[in-house]
Amino acid sequence: MAAHSGGLTAVAPSGTAPSAVTSPGGTVSVRNLIRSFGPKGVLNGVDLDIAPGEFVALLGPSGCGKSTLLRALAGLDHDVRGSGVISVPERVSVVFQDSRLLPWDSVLGNVTLGLREHDAEARARKALAEVGLAGREKSWPHELSGGEQQRVALARSLVREPQLLLADEPFGALDALTRIKMHGLLQDLIAAHRPAVLLVTHDVDEAIALADRIVVLDSGRVATVRTVTPEVGSAVDAAGHEALRRDLLADLGVEPVASH
Ligand SMILES: Nc1ncnc2c1ncn2[C@@H]1O[C@H](COP(=O)(O)OP(=O)(O)O)[C@@H](O)[C@H]1O
Ligand SMILES: [Mg+2]
Repeated sequence: MAAHSGGLTAVAPSGTAPSAVTSPGGTVSVRNLIRSFGPKGVLNGVDLDIAPGEFVALLGPSGCGKSTLLRALAGLDHDVRGSGVISVPERVSVVFQDSRLLPWDSVLGNVTLGLREHDAEARARKALAEVGLAGREKSWPHELSGGEQQRVALARSLVREPQLLLADEPFGALDALTRIKMHGLLQDLIAAHRPAVLLVTHDVDEAIALADRIVVLDSGRVATVRTVTPEVGSAVDAAGHEALRRDLLADLGVEPVASH
């Protein structure tokens, strides 16, 4: 999905932002990324690396530029002004908060959309089974719950076997219980497919539960990077989990609520 240009031009001739180039080793590398809408600077020199198979959560307050960064990695920001160098793996999939399913196509049709391989339908059926939707292939998107629609969106992205999955608040519109179920599903899918992941979220607990590393964006730059060990992420290390949560809330400028 990402646009790939032949060279590493720092600034595109038209004045719009340069596109992502394909990284040979399948890594994500962002260097001095600057993006603005008209006179408004949004990203002011972002550096970010994501290793193959690594899960990075991008946290930050609303409007800080999280989606702008994700769109740049996805090669979707042609109208934005900017500079910098972005390299991404060859196969990139994107999931948004809204499932963006085509309402006039079936669940299966939405997953196979754009696939040219002769075994596309078989692969789509397998992906739907993986997200727990076997038997729903002929349903229409409007017949599904919000959580089920996001499952279809995940199946549609994973059927392409992405080396990088970009997810922009994919569970943000779901109720708390569905969100927790989706966290478990995403963890299973990631374990099976091993893509690198950049998950944009404003939910500190979601970031801790899912990510290997949490990057906090502030004033258009990477302000803090925090590593999440498996023990802290799963809260087996309850004290470490709580300390990381406190640190991240402080990074985001949120005062801890006094207990009564
Ligand atoms: N297409 C656009 N035109 C003008 N301004 C935009 C556009 N998209 C985003 N912005 C602005 O850029 C800033 C960052 O937006 P965004 O990356 O969507 O933030 P986040 O995802 O962190 O909430 C915001 O101030 C927003 O208003
Ligand atoms: Mg956003």
